[in-house]
Amino acid sequence: MARNTLDNVTPLRPGLTATANVLSTAPADDRHIPFIDLQAQRKRLGQGIEDAIARVLDHGRFVAGPEIDELEDQLSAWCGARYAISCASGTTALSLGLSALGAKYRDAVFVPAFTFVSPAEVIARLGCIPVLVDVVEDTFNMDPDSLVRGIQMAEEHGLTPRGAIVIDLFGQPADYPALQKIATAHDLWLMADAAQSFGASLQGRNVGQLTKLTTTSFFPSKPLGCYGDGGAIFTDSEEIATEVASRRQHGQGDDRMTHVRIGMNGRLDTIQAAVLLEKLAILGDELKKRNRIAARYAEGLGDLVDVPTIAPDRTSAWAQYTVRLKRAERDQVREALERDRIPTAIYYHTALHHHAPYTGYPRAHGGLPVSEMLARTVLSLPMHPYLETDLQDQIIERFRTAVATARGG
Ligand SMILES: Cc1ncc(COP(=O)(O)O)c(C=O)c1O
Repeated sequence: MARNTLDNVTPLRPGLTATANVLSTAPADDRHIPFIDLQAQRKRLGQGIEDAIARVLDHGRFVAGPEIDELEDQLSAWCGARYAISCASGTTALSLGLSALGAKYRDAVFVPAFTFVSPAEVIARLGCIPVLVDVVEDTFNMDPDSLVRGIQMAEEHGLTPRGAIVIDLFGQPADYPALQKIATAHDLWLMADAAQSFGASLQGRNVGQLTKLTTTSFFPSKPLGCYGDGGAIFTDSEEIATEVASRRQHGQGDDRMTHVRIGMNGRLDTIQAAVLLEKLAILGDELKKRNRIAARYAEGLGDLVDVPTIAPDRTSAWAQYTVRLKRAERDQVREALERDRIPTAIYYHTALHHHAPYTGYPRAHGGLPVSEMLARTVLSLPMHPYLETDLQDQIIERFRTAVATARGG
């Protein structure tokens, strides 16, 4: 079955035709502004990426080849976590991570309601209860006060609060210092879903070191993406690393034919590791470029709409550049940009508790009003390291015109 090219690329309203593929591989030209330009990155990587793939084709170790170990070493060196364990996807990483943290049947695991579905999905699939908490409007990340209200609610309903999956939405690390205080007071673990934030930092510490266990995704559109599915887990704990590595390989023990826990086939392919090694070498430079582009958007749009706020003690990996508009104008602005052939996306047009399988799960006291409001007001603009200045100027100019028109100007 065909899979969506991105998390949840929002279909246009009936009557509008899609003129831009959100994960485009086509080069930018007068008529085409890609939302994410993987082709420009490929051009920069040049023959190196093809040689890296060819080396795997030559040595033939398509599973557990030498590039896997090399990638894990380099990922761990890059982010400073003692262990990096590669795996098949960001969702696999979440699933392996939850098991390794000891999540059990009917445990309450807290998760923000404004996000991609994956973290809630793995909680529910493991037989735990996802308890949905709200987010902070200007960072899009888990609201510590709502987490406290979620814990109260879970306890009142006889659930055992066990941990929280904290998501660094759009690339900015969540408020781990505040969340960790709450977690410590209630004896919870925190797991960081850094699918969108690998490469970011908080108080000088890189994502990967901010909680006991961090997961990431190498889905092609992520700040560090491969050419297919991939993911990784980061931890300083030898015990967790051993358990994750075993579960990734069918719960294997000391030898290949002994199985000591229930696992899965959760491995990353060697070819994807070879691709990631090439891309990791330019990630630092790409992050600088993303930051420059974000700064230009803020300068060009900050007087008109709510642009993302990055806390002074944090950096973002800028997986998305997401602005907030007035509820009444969001769709009109999007349609105008679409007519101008400027691709946009809505991450996320539906809060988790409004997706059919999640309507019945518990919600923090006070409800999820911010998640609901954001679902109606956010709009993500083209963001990738290779967005050229003149194209970005065009986007800014047309965005300003679209907003002025929507406001009757
Ligand atoms: C926040 C978040 N968590 C988890 C995932 C799942 O990653 P994957 O698609 O690699 O399974 C994604 C996106 O794809 C995501 O955006």
